[in-house]
Amino acid sequence: MPGLRLDNNGTAMIAKDQLDKERLPRHVAIIMDGNGRWAKKKGNPRIFGHKNGVTAVRDTVEAAAELGIEYLTLYAFSTENWNRPRTEVDALMALLVATITKETKTLMDNKVRLKVIGDIDSLPDTVAQNLQATLNKTKDNKGLTLVLALSYSSRWEIVSAVKQLAEDVKQGRIDSEDIDAKVFESYLNTADMPDPELLIRTSGEYRISNYLLWQIAYSELYFTSTLWPDFRREHFYEALADYQNRERRFGKTSEQIATEPNENS
Ligand code: FPP
Repeated sequence: MPGLRLDNNGTAMIAKDQLDKERLPRHVAIIMDGNGRWAKKKGNPRIFGHKNGVTAVRDTVEAAAELGIEYLTLYAFSTENWNRPRTEVDALMALLVATITKETKTLMDNKVRLKVIGDIDSLPDTVAQNLQATLNKTKDNKGLTLVLALSYSSRWEIVSAVKQLAEDVKQGRIDSEDIDAKVFESYLNTADMPDPELLIRTSGEYRISNYLLWQIAYSELYFTSTLWPDFRREHFYEALADYQNRERRFGKTSEQIATEPNENS
């Protein structure tokens, strides 16, 4: 059949026009995993996998922007990743700087706004400076917001939020009686963003790895065995199609959901 795309197992893949444009998630979060294993399978050093992971990032960002998805959050470097061998950390940092600098024009052309969550102060100066330059350049873009989680972990984010909140209570800026989920959220790095409706993890691992723990309370989880460097827009569409087949109940019953007015209509 013309135009039919098959995955590595010969299974037909979803095409963009098979997706319901009215029921796309506003925010998709991704744990990009499997770079090291992809490189090893090809007899190459781990950084070869990270370098090829950039192609997957580019294709996925482009697909998300084209579909009109509002937020795409990528787990690019976790707090725990600092414990990897020094050579790998240095190479990843250099790759981030090179990619961000090289892709700034493409981000501008596609009206993508860059945002970063994580412990920015812990990043090397060159990374922080390059990031800041691209953040400033893209800040008024009105298309997709591409969020890079860099030196990020949920427990770090939550503890930082608690510390700031405790300080505000101590200084009398907020009454402890007024603290609720909404107030707490406003102290997180993701304060002005909607929660992700969909979380994707590649490479066949079934873990959350300290990623957006508060924000994914009601997210749909999608796991694929595809290693990140092999991930392309077709895999992204597949995940979105799977999401569109789920019933999101938020603790209610199927019957309640069926009789509620559709918020998209
Ligand atoms: C996980 O694979 C991947 C990372 C820790 C880094 C992700 C970075 C990139 C894709 C490169 C550039 C990113 C941007 C946003 C420009 P792993 O090393 O844990 O793989 P393994 O589980 O097979 O060892």
